[in-house]
Amino acid sequence: MPSAAKDAEKKIESLREKIRHHEYLYYVVDQPEISDGDFDKLMRQLKDLEAEHPALVTPDSPTQRVGGKPREGFVKVPHSSPMLSLDNTYSEEELRDWERRVHELSGRQDVDYVCELKLDGMSLALTYEDGKLARGVTRGDGSVGEDVTLNVRTVRSVPLSIPKDRLKKAGIPPDFEVRGELLMPTAAFKKLNQEREREGLPTFANPRNFTAGTVRQLDASVTAQRPLDYFAYMLLENGRTYFDHHAKTLDALEAAGFKVNQHRKLVHSMGGVWAFIQQWAEKRESLPYEIDGIVVKVDRTSLQDELGYTGKAPRWAIAYKYAARAGITKIEGIRVQVGRTGKLTPVAELAPVLIGGTTVRNATLHNMDEIERLGVKIGDWVQVERGGDVIPKVAKVIDDKDHPRGHEAFVMPEKCPVCGTKVVRTEGEVDYRCVNANCPAKLMGTILHFASRGIMNIDGMGESLVAQLIDRGLVKNVADIYDLTKKDLLSLDRFADKSAQNILDEIQNSKKLPLERVIYGLGIRFVGERTAQFLAEHFGSMEALENAGVEELQAVNEVGPRIAESIAEFFSIKANRELVKRLGDAGLTMRGQRKERGTKLAGKTFVLTGTLAHFTRDEAKKLIEDAGGKVTGSVSKKTDYVVAGDDAGSKLDKAKELGVAVIDEKEMEQLAG
Ligand code: IVH
Repeated sequence: MPSAAKDAEKKIESLREKIRHHEYLYYVVDQPEISDGDFDKLMRQLKDLEAEHPALVTPDSPTQRVGGKPREGFVKVPHSSPMLSLDNTYSEEELRDWERRVHELSGRQDVDYVCELKLDGMSLALTYEDGKLARGVTRGDGSVGEDVTLNVRTVRSVPLSIPKDRLKKAGIPPDFEVRGELLMPTAAFKKLNQEREREGLPTFANPRNFTAGTVRQLDASVTAQRPLDYFAYMLLENGRTYFDHHAKTLDALEAAGFKVNQHRKLVHSMGGVWAFIQQWAEKRESLPYEIDGIVVKVDRTSLQDELGYTGKAPRWAIAYKYAARAGITKIEGIRVQVGRTGKLTPVAELAPVLIGGTTVRNATLHNMDEIERLGVKIGDWVQVERGGDVIPKVAKVIDDKDHPRGHEAFVMPEKCPVCGTKVVRTEGEVDYRCVNANCPAKLMGTILHFASRGIMNIDGMGESLVAQLIDRGLVKNVADIYDLTKKDLLSLDRFADKSAQNILDEIQNSKKLPLERVIYGLGIRFVGERTAQFLAEHFGSMEALENAGVEELQAVNEVGPRIAESIAEFFSIKANRELVKRLGDAGLTMRGQRKERGTKLAGKTFVLTGTLAHFTRDEAKKLIEDAGGKVTGSVSKKTDYVVAGDDAGSKLDKAKELGVAVIDEKEMEQLAG
């Protein structure tokens, strides 16, 4: 290797080491030593160097956490040993029964247990080869899971590579398997779900479903944007537990750089177990993620082996499940809420009830189908549950002699409760909607969406300000924001010269934000952040987007008929076109960088493999995509061309096997040029 390349390799390795160290400090132990800005700088240096030396890019480089290319599906992978579930207990008595069986079967009384939190996520197995993450596999049916490695690589608390000396110090062999729980912190879940709601996308019922949906995303760059966390709790070698004690396993995993939950305890009796359970029954409210119980495990591995397994669960471990945080109360009424998209949501008004430390007065009934499924009537006594969900929900109707049934059936109003316009239920859809574009309920949501962080970033324009602006008739649509004067603001409650000026400055600054933000801010149904970005890149201006037909819209990345029709419908309404014109007149960004896409390779699918001499992977991908082609990650019958560089591996074999055309980079250039 020439010495310049050697220098680069050294520099790259040293940057990676530094970045890994800071990732560990930030994501695993939560004690960062450098600022986010300095961290970004290191990352940028590494990215630049790797771009100059694409041959030196390895899958365990921290830059590879950004997510890979869309895949066609997930490959099924058998587990080294079954991924089991746990038997559940719900009372101290049941726990004591379990302990008795442990004593009987093992013939000993002096058994130590490790107590851990039962994290409410999904279990995931990570295989490391030579200290490097080789595979991440979901539990699946316990015997066979799905290979989600590309997605797992984006999870910051999963080490991609562990230095040999660190493993050695921790006493862990270079080839091993870790099992643990992947989860989404509650705050992130709430925020992302609210964003989805604003974008008119279906929301997830709880963080566990969101986690499962995220890790099974076909496009790993989506996963990369979602803050998942991973806690390790098992270490295997060739499918068998490696250390002689479980407590030792957890310490070793921690020493190797895995995130291991801090809230764990080695106890010497069931009394200790019960104290741990009681302690967390209340404290769990303050955790940043959801738990649904406590897991109790026999500490000594030899004893675990002796106790063995029943059908699908170990006899050496048990889960104690906390009762769902629930309460029983009476439905005093059902009102209807109107959201930004016009969706009408029935909400139960409850006699106040204390659930898990919070007074609950409202619970969602979701939609008419749910009301029918529950068979709920006004006056009914119901069980209300508060899970990881954003809003408490009605779980079931109570029907016994102490809880007489209600009689008044709920009827969905025919008119919007806010503006009085006739309500519409589209054939085949669950939801009822208000279709009045000027409905004030929609207006509030629309303005909050437009002004929110990540869109037009108008800090300070929250619910109370927007409510006043709408009340006083100062804002009837988002364009009116740009006509606000200091006098207008000073006429509102709690505004002084300085605070009014701050808001005006924020409004002024928002004008500099790029075109995709303005498109996103319009609140077109199904148009989220990513779609807005693709639209801005494809059309390069609001005007071109406005005039595009459904067919042209569908040519945009990830835009299908449903989104295309929603956009076309938005711009077919005169009031919306006028609104967009006013935003342009106010000085908002209406032009962007157009990324020209050709049509020469339209409909053609490429797979890149091996090292190309004149292109990095990203450059080759761009060349193909700019010519209208698509690049995917794996070879199938649908692949049109495999572009093979040096050291092409299994993908080349697969192409030959399937008879897919194999070309070199020159031919690729000719096709695209
Ligand atoms: S041990 C054979 N430890 O609970 C051992 N599981 O109901 C099984 N879980 O599938 C796993 N926190 O997804 C273990 N600290 C913990 C856990 C935990 C959550 C999940 C795991 C498992 C499920 C069983």
